[in-house]
Amino acid sequence: MKAFNFNQWSQTHLAAIELALDDNVPAYAPAGLGDAMRYAVLDGGKRLRPLLVLASMEASAAGQQAGWMEDAAMRAACAVELIHAYSLVHDDMPCMDNDVLRRGKPTVHVKFGQAQALLAGDALQSLAFELITPDDSDIPDAVQTKLCALLARGAGHAGMAGGQAIDLASVGVALDAEALRHMHRCKTGALLETSVLMGALCGDASARAYEALHVFAQAMGVAFQVVDDILDVTANSAVLGKTAGKDAADNKPTYVSLLGLAGARQEAKDLAEQAQSALIKSALPNTQALRALTDWVLHRQH
Ligand code: IPE
Ligand code: IPE
Ligand code: MG
Ligand code: MG
Ligand code: MG
Repeated sequence: MKAFNFNQWSQTHLAAIELALDDNVPAYAPAGLGDAMRYAVLDGGKRLRPLLVLASMEASAAGQQAGWMEDAAMRAACAVELIHAYSLVHDDMPCMDNDVLRRGKPTVHVKFGQAQALLAGDALQSLAFELITPDDSDIPDAVQTKLCALLARGAGHAGMAGGQAIDLASVGVALDAEALRHMHRCKTGALLETSVLMGALCGDASARAYEALHVFAQAMGVAFQVVDDILDVTANSAVLGKTAGKDAADNKPTYVSLLGLAGARQEAKDLAEQAQSALIKSALPNTQALRALTDWVLHRQH
């Protein structure tokens, strides 16, 4: 069997994701809205969520990939990235984190104004659901419906939006470990879990594999935000492409404020190990990409 090459895997998939995003986000929408949407989505971003969708589909299908599975997975990959991009546009607005730098560029509201930023976020969210409900494809209706339900749940009050509400309500509040984990799981973990579960659905995962991938995604999703908290302290703005030191400046509770840097690093490592052991327990044959993505989540520099 050929050894798995993560660099090659990610380069091939990243190129396909960029093409699909470029194809799917329209330049032409009324009154310049398309320009703001494309600015928010294209030309930047690590694309972790789309890569997770594709890796999870490949792990679940385990070599039995039907034609519709690839179409569904790429649609789901783009859809979750659109929701993520919308969440960043709103997260950066003056009424939330008030940031001027994102993905190495001025934030959307700085470039296009607050009203256009708000609307670009709204339109990206709608476009995400449009993408996963095509009427001219072989993707079974039941799969389309379930993809919608997963994405709605991950983005909504019990997921990203709810987590963002907790984040804003927690300024200056010393959350305990349980409350902090809950906030991180909602605001960031939820969309990462959604990515993995949408991939599992597209790959027609067995119930057992789906559950194992869910356990994996819960740990990996929180690990990702713990590392985001660490990088906010240890990295600089040029490398991050967003303003460093923002959490302490805004008095946000983070894993670093709760546990210190060494404690936060240990927590990220423990969570990544939990994620890896869930993959081993899944007994799925094709989890190399998910394993490599988890390593990358832990060791990333931006
Ligand atoms: C940043 O996410 C916001 C969080 C949820 C922590 P990413 O670090 O994935 O941002 P991009 O997509 O690479 O810009
Ligand atoms: C953001 O958390 C989570 C989102 C849902 C966008 P942060 O506020 O820490 O993300 P960054 O650091 O601005 O990317
Ligand atoms: Mg925020
Ligand atoms: Mg922010
Ligand atoms: Mg952050």
